[in-house]
This record gives sequence, C-alpha cells and structure tokens, in this order.
Amino acid sequence: MSPHHLSARFLGSFAYLTVKDRLPAILTQIIDRVHRHHAHFVKTHGEEGGEAGKKVVSLLSKLRSELLTDKPLQQLEDGHSDCEIWNEYLGWQRTKLQPGEEPSWFKSPWLYVECYMYRKVQEIVLRCEPLCEFDVFADLKLKSFMDSQRAIMTLADHAGNILDNIGNLKEDDLKDTFMKLLQVSLWGNKCDLSISGGLDNAQKADPLAALWNLRSHILVDDSESVWSVLNKRKRSPESASSFRLDIALDNAGFELFTDLVLVEFLQSANLVDQVHFHGKSMPWFLSDITKEDFVKTIKTLCSTNHRWTSRLGVRWHKRVQDGLWTYHDHDFWTLPHDYADMVTRSPELYAELQCAQLILFKGDLHYRKLLGDLQWEHTTSFAEALRGFEPSPLCSLRALKADIQVGLKPGQAEQLSGTDAKWMVSGEYAIVQFHSPVH
Ligand code: F6P
Ligand code: MG
Repeated sequence: MSPHHLSARFLGSFAYLTVKDRLPAILTQIIDRVHRHHAHFVKTHGEEGGEAGKKVVSLLSKLRSELLTDKPLQQLEDGHSDCEIWNEYLGWQRTKLQPGEEPSWFKSPWLYVECYMYRKVQEIVLRCEPLCEFDVFADLKLKSFMDSQRAIMTLADHAGNILDNIGNLKEDDLKDTFMKLLQVSLWGNKCDLSISGGLDNAQKADPLAALWNLRSHILVDDSESVWSVLNKRKRSPESASSFRLDIALDNAGFELFTDLVLVEFLQSANLVDQVHFHGKSMPWFLSDITKEDFVKTIKTLCSTNHRWTSRLGVRWHKRVQDGLWTYHDHDFWTLPHDYADMVTRSPELYAELQCAQLILFKGDLHYRKLLGDLQWEHTTSFAEALRGFEPSPLCSLRALKADIQVGLKPGQAEQLSGTDAKWMVSGEYAIVQFHSPVH
C-alpha cells in the first residue's frame, strides 16, 4: 500500500502547523503589501487601479478567512489555460473522500492545498484588471537580492578567479571546483523566503567560508555520481555528443546567482554545452523564479559597478542571446501534480527533459513533488520513491524544509531526531541525491 500524503489532517504535523499558522501569515503579508501599493496602483492605472487594489485586498481577506475556517476548496475561474486541469484535479480529490465530503484546507493533501493557495492568489490578481501583471512577491524578491549583494560579490570574485585560470585546471582541480560550487548552490537553497514566511532570508555571510563546517549536514551526498555523469565526455572525448544540462530552478535572489555560477563553470570547463532552465510561469511560493526575475537579475548584474559581478552579467546575457541558455516556464511546474504524473499529464515536458544528459532539481518543493509528498519510510530508496519518474539521470539539491526524506541509512533518521527534533524542517540539513535510469 502506498504511504499517506502529508496533510494538515495529521494534527501537530509540520503540514498542520503550516496550514494553521504559516499560510495565513503569508496571506496577511500579501494583503499588507498590496495595501501599501495603493498609491502606486493609482499612479500607474488611475482610479481604476486604486479600485482594483481594494478588490484584491478584499478577495485575499476572503481567501484567508476560508482557509482559517477550513472551507471547501473552489474551482478556478480566471480563464487561464490551466483552469481545466486544476478543476479536474479538484474533482479527483473529491473521489477520495466519503460521499458528501469536500476537499478542504485541513483535510486535503498539504502539497495540493499549498499549491492551491498560491494559484488562488494569482487568480485574484488576474481577475482584478488592470493589475493582472502584478507580482505580489516582486518587492520581497528584490529586497532579498539586494541584501545579498556582499555575498554575491564575494562569490563573483571567486568565480572570476576560476574563470581566469580555467585552462590550467587539471582534472582533480576541476572536480574540486565542481564539488565546491555544487555545495554553494546547494546551500543557496537556504535562502528561500517561504520558510521564513517572507521575513529576511538573504545570504549575509561569505558563502564559501562555511562550506567545510556544513559538510556533516549533508545527509545524502551523491556528488561523485553527478560528477561521473558530467565528466564522462572528458574521459572518452571520441564518443562525446553535445551535453545538455537542464536545471529546474527554485528561488530568485542569491540562490539563482549560485546556480548561474555553477552552470557558468560547467560550460566554461567544456563539461556542458547547452543549458535549459525551468522556472515558474507565475509568482509562486514567495521567492520562486519567474521569467521576469531571470531576465531582470541578469540585467541588474550587468549594470553593477563591481568588476566580476557585471562581467558575469554581460557574459550571461550573451549566453541567452547566443541560444546557449534557454529559459522554459511550462505550466506543469505550477500545477498540484507530482512528477510521477508528468509523463501522462504533460508528456511534452517529459519528452523535453528526456533530451537532457543530466537534470538538477533545486529546492524543497521540487523534492516534495519528486516524492509525491508521501510519508515514506526514511530508508526507502530514492528510486522507489520516484515511482517511475526518470526522464534522464537526475539529482535533487535541497535544504530540508518539509518532513519528507528518503534514502537514509538504517538508524540515521533516529540518530538525527535524537540530536535535533527539527532536522527535517529547519533548512539546516541538506541532500545531494542522485538517480539514473537503468537501461
Ligand atoms: O515548509 C517549508 C516550505 O514553505 C514548503 O512549503 C516548501 O516546500 C518550501 O518551503 C519551499 O522551499 P523551496 O524554496 O526550497 O522549494
Ligand atoms: Mg522556492
């Protein structure tokens, strides 16, 4: 029998605390920020903008009260192309309940209700013309990026040194550099805004200095397997074909910068040719990256007056222009479905991922969706928990922020629970977990 979904119906669980406290707090914050934008809406769209802002606030308050009182989840009606799929999913959730019961915030799977909340916020914005382009998290993402400037400059200088000497690096040096930058990107995932409910979560410390001490906090470390995939071509150049890396991005801000530095190194070292980035098509889980964030980040980097930060920006702008970097934002990433459903739900995206030689999945939410957000035993293998989702060799890079984790050694979870009751949800531990299809 398949394990249960994480859900707020399990009183006292992290899902329960999230639905009871964290999600309403996030909605309150959105309401406050929309409220504070009133003058801006009037300035940009006149009276109509001011009225639309008030309507957004009122609909968000209604949504918050529905959540707090565990009202049934509703159909989506904003006419966006994914509405039918969401409504079908709601119907399917209904079939899993007793007759007469309705899917609701505290009864339904956590993954579903949490995605539903962000999608519902987007519905509200879409229905309040002329604000339909408004990203309710834009100012938070910008602040977190700006607050991480010092760490970004430190990492940019480090990357600059590597790039200046890349031609002289022997295989061992390349591997060491890869391991280091992979860990920087891994720990970059601590900087998401949803874990802190939108409070300050920028990177303030030197991202490189802490790596050594953090090593014991990596609970599963399959970096060697990832390196083997990347390094295959170096070992047998005669059989080499073009190497495509896909990266399912997570958060904008410092995390994105760490991801881009990693990718830049791999391309500059000729380990990777093409990079395909996958982001969200709408504002999502506070800090998740949208196309606008991606474009804006590179543009902002270009115009800084720090030598290597701006050089990297210019380089990355060119990579996009030359078609070496491609950005995708398929609707599937903002559906409530887990990734085992991708092949039937969005076969074209699955086929796209099959073109990659390696896929990196950044962040906690991607991990939850890879595993179906099910209460797996911690010793279940990653392969089993993926339930057939294996478009290509893949690796999850995630700081633990939800109580779900597989692939641990017998006794490892018990030992961790003995020393730190919050090891699964604090973001203080992380994994580099790899799976390759066996053909
Ligand atoms: O519970 C922590 C949380 O808010 C989850 O809802 C979500 O899985 C995660 O944070 C988002 O983190 P990330 O940005 O790493 O996907
Ligand atoms: Mg995120």
